[in-house]
Amino acid sequence: MKAYKKRLKLPLYETHIMIKNLFIFGTRPEAIKMAPLIKAFQKHPELFSVKICVTAQHREMLDQVLDFFEITADYDLDLMRPNQNLYTLTANIITEMMPVLETFQPDYVFVHGDTTTTMAGSIASFYSGAKVCHVEAGLRTHNKLSPFPEEINRQITGRVCDYHFAPTMTSKQNLLQENINEDTVLVTGNTVIDALQHSVERVIQEPSAHIKKISKTLGNKEVILVTGHRRENHGDGFIRICEALKAIALNNKDRFIVYPVHLNPKVQEPVNRILAHIENVLLIEPMAYQDFIWMMNRCKIIITDSGGVQEEAPSLGKPVLVMRDTTERPEAVEAGTVVLVGTDKEIIIKETLDLLQNSERFEKMSKLHNPYGDGKACERIVDFIAKLEGKKITHKNEFKS
Ligand code: UD1
Ligand code: UDP
Repeated sequence: MKAYKKRLKLPLYETHIMIKNLFIFGTRPEAIKMAPLIKAFQKHPELFSVKICVTAQHREMLDQVLDFFEITADYDLDLMRPNQNLYTLTANIITEMMPVLETFQPDYVFVHGDTTTTMAGSIASFYSGAKVCHVEAGLRTHNKLSPFPEEINRQITGRVCDYHFAPTMTSKQNLLQENINEDTVLVTGNTVIDALQHSVERVIQEPSAHIKKISKTLGNKEVILVTGHRRENHGDGFIRICEALKAIALNNKDRFIVYPVHLNPKVQEPVNRILAHIENVLLIEPMAYQDFIWMMNRCKIIITDSGGVQEEAPSLGKPVLVMRDTTERPEAVEAGTVVLVGTDKEIIIKETLDLLQNSERFEKMSKLHNPYGDGKACERIVDFIAKLEGKKITHKNEFKS
């Protein structure tokens, strides 16, 4: 493979750079979780040349994150289409990655997580002859339909990748069970914690104008924060979720449900149809990352089907009810801060009311403990790559710019 991979002729100022890293991502959560890693590599320009390719599988929701972390893409494939389907998105990513990979000829490509960008980006990178690195590797439900299509995206990416950065020991074990060579797996913690630690103090102390406005509306009422977007919940699942939220809102007039609604039209339609015009339901646009962290910190409980939110909430001591039947993130369930409630209307209502009313249960679930990381995941990944290249890194404070 390496035989036909020629090194790109570099401009003079870059001739001393030895290791070419390309980051490929496309959606909001990938961007949040890749941002601190990009920053960590950029701290060592004597060793690494860093380029960023966004597929823009998401557009507005991706740009919000790029703005906050002050990251500029070197290549923007601009692939999002309204109501896009998986066939064209997958094909377009692979096709459009070709000139990027052929031009930059990276030594290492980093993909993240389980999206279509992750899976198609890893295949294209494999074709290019680069070494492919999977960040947030090894999460599994072993149920190919849940989450759909993410479980299969992860499994394919795991097959294709050369190096696997697993957030927890459980995810490492999953990879070893698939006969992945242990020397290629590193347990790092999840970079989502690095991102959160980088941002949280500033965000809470300096709320944006948008937050100040919402804050006025909320007054001192308790907040139930909601997000949801999973494909396997589209259709009937979302209708049941919205009916449950409606019942909870009508029975809790002294509380607010705050719901930043994902831009996917298959989510927008039922949410707006069933929940708009309920006085104590605040349906808002997807929040900028910094505003969302503020809101997570402000709320009492979270109801979600999001992966990333499940990982962040324990750091802020917020109990989470997860509207899914399976999870590839069992650690917080075991730690007792997350409970799976599925998408049955009556169960969502019962579990939410119980958590709001049973103070003993609430206290137990809101303890501050995060099994997903210690904020040093990015450092570990940079060290690992440097070591592969026979280099040693001295870390300063990675995220202070
Ligand atoms: C995608 C990922 C999912 C991830 C989620 C994070 C796949 C198949 N799905 O789901 O794994 O958990 O992102 O949020 O990779 N849209 C906009 N603007 C945006 C983003 C989306 O208008 O900034 C709308 C568009 O109509 C788009 C649709 O949402 O076609 C669906 O986007 P897509 O990325 O295919 O799926 P998500 O449900 O966002
Ligand atoms: N998030 C955000 N704004 C919002 C809702 C969520 O910035 O309005 C962030 C959240 O903090 C987390 C990530 O988006 O880091 C989760 O993304 P999402 O739920 O879309 O995807 P998943 O994690 O399920 O793949």
